[in-house]
Amino acid sequence: MNNNNTKKNRILVIDDEEHITSFLKETLELSGYLCDTAECGKEGLRKLRKDNGYDLLITDIRLPDISGLEILEITGKKYPFLPVIVITGFATIESTKTALRLGAMDYIPKPFTTGTVLAAVNNAIHASFSPIRGRRFRKIVYRSHLMEQLMELVNKIAKTDSTILVTGESGTGKELIARAIHNNSLRSTQPFISVNSGAIPEGLLESELFGHVKGAFTGATATTHGRFHVADGGTLFLDEVGNMSPAMQVKLLRVLQDGEFSPVGSSDVQTTDVRLITATNINLEEAMSKNEFREDLYYRLNVIEVHVPPLRHRTDDILPLTEHFLSRLTGSEKQDSCVLSSSSVSILLSYHWPGNVRELENIMERAWVLCENNVILPKDLPGKMLPSHGNLPDIHPSSDGIQLDSLLENIEKHYIINTLKQSKGNRTLAARLLGLKRTTLLARINSLGIAKDTGRK
Ligand SMILES: Nc1ncnc2c1ncn2[C@@H]1O[C@H](COP(=O)(O)OP(=O)(O)OP(=O)(O)O)[C@@H](O)[C@H]1O
Ligand SMILES: [Mg+2]
Repeated sequence: MNNNNTKKNRILVIDDEEHITSFLKETLELSGYLCDTAECGKEGLRKLRKDNGYDLLITDIRLPDISGLEILEITGKKYPFLPVIVITGFATIESTKTALRLGAMDYIPKPFTTGTVLAAVNNAIHASFSPIRGRRFRKIVYRSHLMEQLMELVNKIAKTDSTILVTGESGTGKELIARAIHNNSLRSTQPFISVNSGAIPEGLLESELFGHVKGAFTGATATTHGRFHVADGGTLFLDEVGNMSPAMQVKLLRVLQDGEFSPVGSSDVQTTDVRLITATNINLEEAMSKNEFREDLYYRLNVIEVHVPPLRHRTDDILPLTEHFLSRLTGSEKQDSCVLSSSSVSILLSYHWPGNVRELENIMERAWVLCENNVILPKDLPGKMLPSHGNLPDIHPSSDGIQLDSLLENIEKHYIINTLKQSKGNRTLAARLLGLKRTTLLARINSLGIAKDTGRK
């Protein structure tokens, strides 16, 4: 079953121009979203008050009654989990920056196309971080030594202005790391702008990054600023940089070398002061050897490389991440907490996670929807994860191997925590249930770093 089908995401659009709301409603609904509209700020806020089940708000900055910026401030306080995208015009460049500073996830410049709208919406809905606004530091959950080392590196390089290349398999958390670098940098009060080069049609990417002048191409009915302009002073995160065409690679090289670019259709030279962070899940060195990626660009981008390891190399992170995702799900909607049965834990720990943290996040969402009595059983996990026979899952070490010690330690820890919860913190009872001597249990609690009050609260 595809967990993306569990529910349709709901979007509220606030704009006073009828042709814009109807265009957005049609575009979004054709792409599988549910869309509501409001023609002024007050109506939009009323709809939000009546129904807080929206997954995204899209609002124009200029509205007849209250401004989009005020809406951002109000929703930031009242609905801090609601991501917001603002619609901006050419003349509202300063407001665009203010909106991004106030926590808008993204902006869509007018006039827009189906492609740019969907790229922004998909990005915001499947955002790589919880959009709690006003929080400078997004939560990166980890317990493994590998991630500890990575976070040390992130903290060190954040303060510099070096160009950074974030590498790693799909879903490992590359964008989250890029945001952490920005949030810890001296540019943190300036915009962080994320562009997924892979999701934007080739013909549009240049205008998306550098802007265009009116009449530059069919459909260019007004002059538009590009992302390099809006991100001036801040950080631009360019995802899937490995997919860029040779022509775009040359243009990107120019910005990196001289800080200069020209909007599409213009010979004007504009300058920008942007820290560039790029990411890729393809091997750029291999692409370079096949002449698909420019060598000079590669060395400009890869001043410092941050490699995010795959989840199967850091099994210590699996359970903390699982708990984080479950508490986010239960905290925001269901009151009761949700736990994993011990056999589900062993399955999670021995699975090879080809889709990494994003896959874990999706699997938890699906399991949370399917589970009964707030306990996630193996039947609530996708069939592909389940062992084919026996009580324990089969483990097929890949070429990367497995880390048996940490795997077993995690399973043991989980059994003990669950039993302590069941016995409400009574260790004598927990020891009996686990078939251990009380002293042995206490020693394990100590050595595994289990909190002393587990089960008592
Ligand atoms: N350490 C972590 N703590 C909390 N959440 C995480 C962590 N790592 C990843 N995630 C979550 O996993 C999902 C994928 O993260 P992200 O989008 O940053 O990955 P990515 O490497 O950029 O993926 P892709 O290669 O597909 O672009 C996001 O929803 C993110 O919130
Ligand atoms: Mg990404």
